Amino acid sequence: MDDVGTVMFLSWVITTTVLIRGCVSDPSDQSCLTHLSESLQDPNNLLHNWNPKNFVKPCNDSTSTLQGIICNNDRIYKLSLNNLSLRGTISPFLANCTNLQALDLSSNSLTGPIPPDLQSLVNLAVLNLSSNRLEGEVPPQLTLCAYLNIIDLHSNLLTGPIPQQLGLLVRLSAFDVSNNRLSGPIPASLSNRSGNLPRFNASSFEGNKDLYGYPLPLLRNKGLSVLAIVGIGLGSGLASLVLSFTGVCIWLKITERKMALEEGKISHLMPDY
Ligand SMILES: *[C@@H]1O[C@H](CO)[C@@H](O)[C@H](O)[C@H]1NC(C)=O
Ligand SMILES: *[C@@H]1O[C@H](CO)[C@@H](O)[C@H](O)[C@H]1NC(C)=O
Ligand SMILES: *[C@@H]1O[C@H](CO)[C@@H](O)[C@H](O)[C@H]1NC(C)=O
Ligand SMILES: *[C@@H]1O[C@H](CO)[C@@H](O)[C@H](O)[C@H]1NC(C)=O
Ligand SMILES: *[C@@H]1O[C@H](CO)[C@@H](O)[C@H](O)[C@H]1NC(C)=O
Ligand SMILES: *[C@@H]1O[C@H](CO)[C@@H](O)[C@H](O)[C@H]1NC(C)=O
Repeated sequence: MDDVGTVMFLSWVITTTVLIRGCVSDPSDQSCLTHLSESLQDPNNLLHNWNPKNFVKPCNDSTSTLQGIICNNDRIYKLSLNNLSLRGTISPFLANCTNLQALDLSSNSLTGPIPPDLQSLVNLAVLNLSSNRLEGEVPPQLTLCAYLNIIDLHSNLLTGPIPQQLGLLVRLSAFDVSNNRLSGPIPASLSNRSGNLPRFNASSFEGNKDLYGYPLPLLRNKGLSVLAIVGIGLGSGLASLVLSFTGVCIWLKITERKMALEEGKISHLMPDY
């Protein structure tokens, strides 16, 4: 190759590289959006530009024309679709948005489970799925998202226990599972006292009928409450007191009458002076 040939070859390489970087999408972000748009229902048509032809290249450096998407370095970085009256379910393929740092689907009407597949979102720092109708358990796999700062799952229909592994998330600064249908003991790893304060206070846990233990009352709604036990104790104490008092009274009455009779007999037998 002569000099001109080398220069031409190099400029071809550079041009092609720039073109490829500019035009070719990330296949995993495309798969993520394609599946998510299939699993969500948007009855009010509020998801602007959410159609398959825009999923091929959702990001142009840090911008996106798609509603609710913020990009960074040509990858989806934040997904915020809150308060849009969305229905449907959360696709497990959301896990293909591997650069996702914040996922906010709060205040919609989403149903179905929280997919355990979200564990592959290793950069996730914010998970806000609050105020939906999500069912099933809180996936313990979320512990693998080691950067999680915020887990807000309040006001859903979640059942089962709170996975105690979640206490291993050292960066967790906000945790809210209030107003669900969770049960069992609150893991000490999420509630333990450092100083005199709990890691997360009662407001993170309240509104779950069968959840108990610090910082909520111990054994709340588990069989008899402390108050009921005290009540029954006092009640039966009082009852037995009344019963034994009545018993003593009756015994006294009988004895008195007997004595009166005896006395009468005696006085009868005694000769008159
Ligand atoms: C998307 O996610 C699914 C399920 O997690 C996985 O099987 C698939 O390989 C992923 N596809 C891409 C393109 O990353
Ligand atoms: C991407 O954004 C740059 C400016 O940030 C713009 O010049 C370019 O035309 C955009 N590309 C596409 C395909 O929209
Ligand atoms: C949710 O959206 C409705 C309009 O669709 C608006 O009136 C309401 O203030 C929004 N709520 C929040 C918390 O943003
Ligand atoms: C989650 O989103 C709701 C609004 O949809 C907001 O009120 C709440 O503060 C968010 N949670 C956190 C921990 O930021
Ligand atoms: C309390 O929780 C922290 C983690 O937040 C842990 O390092 C510590 O050992 C726990 N202490 C007790 C007494 O369980
Ligand atoms: C509970 O913690 C939250 C923040 O984590 C705080 O806003 C709230 O005031 C606390 N409530 C009580 C009763 O301490």
